Amino acid sequence: MSGALRTKFTETFGVEHPIVQGGMQWVGRAELVAAVANAGALGMVTALTQPTPEDLVKEIARTRELTDKPFGINLTILPAITPPPYDEYRQVIVESGVTIVETAGSNPGPHLPQFHAAGIKVLHKCTSVRHAIKAQDLGVDGISIDGFECAGHPGEDDIPGLVLIPAAAKHITIPMIASGGFADARGLVAALALGADGINMGTRFMCTEESPIHQNIKQSIVDSTERDTELIFRTLRNTARVASNSVSREVVEILAGGGQFEQVRDLVSGARGKTVYELGDPEAGIWSVGTCQGLIDDIPSAGALIERIVREAREIITGKLGQMVL
Ligand SMILES: Cc1cc2nc3c(=O)[nH]c(=O)nc-3n(C[C@H](O)[C@H](O)[C@H](O)COP(=O)(O)O)c2cc1C
Repeated sequence: MSGALRTKFTETFGVEHPIVQGGMQWVGRAELVAAVANAGALGMVTALTQPTPEDLVKEIARTRELTDKPFGINLTILPAITPPPYDEYRQVIVESGVTIVETAGSNPGPHLPQFHAAGIKVLHKCTSVRHAIKAQDLGVDGISIDGFECAGHPGEDDIPGLVLIPAAAKHITIPMIASGGFADARGLVAALALGADGINMGTRFMCTEESPIHQNIKQSIVDSTERDTELIFRTLRNTARVASNSVSREVVEILAGGGQFEQVRDLVSGARGKTVYELGDPEAGIWSVGTCQGLIDDIPSAGALIERIVREAREIITGKLGQMVL
């Protein structure tokens, strides 16, 4: 018996383990992605963390110096007043020779022809069954379905994974990854039982040795519980799950009281959020984290984490669950 778990996802995307490190702004850099890849899982360099498309070229090269295993690039396409040059980032990705892209944020349709022409497999991340079906119809190669538990943007439907994953599984025939709230082997086995072909994790990988953020923030994740997140931008229908701190609570209060985006713009600025990770003050700004921080008790290397999840998942499947069958 080999050490791996084989699923439709591992076969289609050519990785050893059914575990993905999803795109993470400021966190999805070469060190973490390479560590995930070297352990046989799929890491995503996060394109927009790099200030320019040229910087992304360098970050992909840096990742290649650290691993010869496959890795992907996350391209998050969100509406913005001054949008980043998405087409230029896409061009860099196409020319880089990477074979996997994670799209998120909006319709992947306009980007698919160029990715597919370059032989790139597209894993599209979305937060509802209807968007998953649409992406499948458009021809993406895999779906990552992100439940209400997740860090970042859970959408506006508030459907947790326990319902969202099997609801999506009724319709999705291409490989499907379950996302949001996964942090350990129990989650992986549950996701497989619910009809997914693997898991995507953000918060859990943020809290690993190779994650390029300040140690204080990793410790804050270890010290926090599942209750320590806030949902900001609810009234703007652009909900984001972030760490509960004085800044995020103020944002919630202002918007719930009828305030508009202008009144919270400075509080939620990306520059402030970035200093959280650089200087290690969890109160310095807004930063994404999921409810599964309540399940996280340590800061292992990404490789040790992946090895542990796969080993324990095998033990649960062949041991505890197998023994229940009379
Ligand atoms: C710090 C952080 C930054 C994130 N940034 C992005 C991003 O830029 N693009 C994206 O598609 N998802 C982003 N996500 C979401 C993750 O890729 C993933 O979908 C989510 O974390 C899954 O939920 P979990 O945190 O419960 O594992 C981010 C998550 C975290 C924790």
